[in-house]
Amino acid sequence: MFEISTPRDAKIYVAGHHGLVGAAVVRRLEQAGFTNILVATRDQLDLRDQAAVNYWFRANRPDYVYLVAGTVGGIWANANRPADFIYDNMMIHATVVHAGYLFGVQKLLYLGSSCIYPRLAPQPMTEGALLTGLLEPTNEPYAIAKIAGIKLCQAYRKQYGCNFVSGMPTNLFGPNDNFDLQTSHVLPALMRKVHEARLGGRHEIEVWGTGSAMREFLYVDDLADACLFLMEHYEDDGHVNIGTGVEVSIRELAETLIEVIHPTATIRWDANKPDGAPRKLLDVSKLTKVGWTHGTDLRTGIDKTYAWLESNFGHARGVDHEQPATLSS
Ligand SMILES: NC(=O)c1ccc[n+]([C@@H]2O[C@H](COP(=O)([O-])OP(=O)(O)OC[C@H]3O[C@@H](n4cnc5c(N)ncnc54)[C@H](OP(=O)(O)O)[C@@H]3O)[C@@H](O)[C@H]2O)c1
Repeated sequence: MFEISTPRDAKIYVAGHHGLVGAAVVRRLEQAGFTNILVATRDQLDLRDQAAVNYWFRANRPDYVYLVAGTVGGIWANANRPADFIYDNMMIHATVVHAGYLFGVQKLLYLGSSCIYPRLAPQPMTEGALLTGLLEPTNEPYAIAKIAGIKLCQAYRKQYGCNFVSGMPTNLFGPNDNFDLQTSHVLPALMRKVHEARLGGRHEIEVWGTGSAMREFLYVDDLADACLFLMEHYEDDGHVNIGTGVEVSIRELAETLIEVIHPTATIRWDANKPDGAPRKLLDVSKLTKVGWTHGTDLRTGIDKTYAWLESNFGHARGVDHEQPATLSS
């Protein structure tokens, strides 16, 4: 628990409130007693359109902004839609940051991603690894847009004195995730595969790679708690990593999902398919020093997410689009 000094009737805009992160941020703000949470659907406000964003900010005058909207996806989506990933994200970051400056937002929190770090960054990755080497080519356009978001916040802070801060989350998961096998991240994709195998009475599940890659996962309600914490207590010009500092192999992850969802199933690893980077772990010592640590372990987060998926499978995001199964981290 931490102190929350923002008045509970402050106007708080959550950009991207329908998404995995945005919905969790809204839940956390409501839980903290905030009564004036502003949201807009994509139909009401295309965040890539500066004139529309300015119009909306002029009309609504938010005091605080959580910038958690964007075009997001796994390796397949990044590889096949690089233009969307760079254009949408650069535009969304730029329009919201600029409107935040123009209309006197008191504080803005921007979320980037751990893919901003170089492909060969020493592990665990510290904030200082930014711009020290070449990026992972498969998601370079997305990463460039995410880095531009950090630089936007810093530039507006420097030139105009705006209180804009940046957090870089690790891989996230939780209720309301995207479960489309082509566009989702590894954890929701694997969860869906195991769930569908259980529903179909199948006992062998094929997964890309050898399972040896190590990854870090943060439960999205913990991320939302960290966002509120940073809004209340973080004033640094530099970005801060948001993660658990705990890593798990894809093999262990898959075994946990099987234990929770379909205990009689087994995995057939397709070693001809890529594993991705061998290790991707954030150094979270800066965040720990400022005063925040995660509260939900991976197993508890998976239990909660699967409980949600079981009750919402028919209308979970991405489930209605039948796609060939491709899995990679
Ligand atoms: N998921 C992860 O593992 C992860 C990890 C690290 C960082 N992040 C960062 O966290 C942020 C949120 O990610 P997420 O996983 O919550 O993504 P998400 O579930 O796909 O949600 C993105 C949200 O942004 C909205 N949006 C996208 N383009 C828009 C546009 N042009 N105009 C208005 N709204 C638009 C979407 O609206 P619709 O509902 O209409 O589509 C949706 O509400 C992103 O900045 C991402 O880089 C995510």
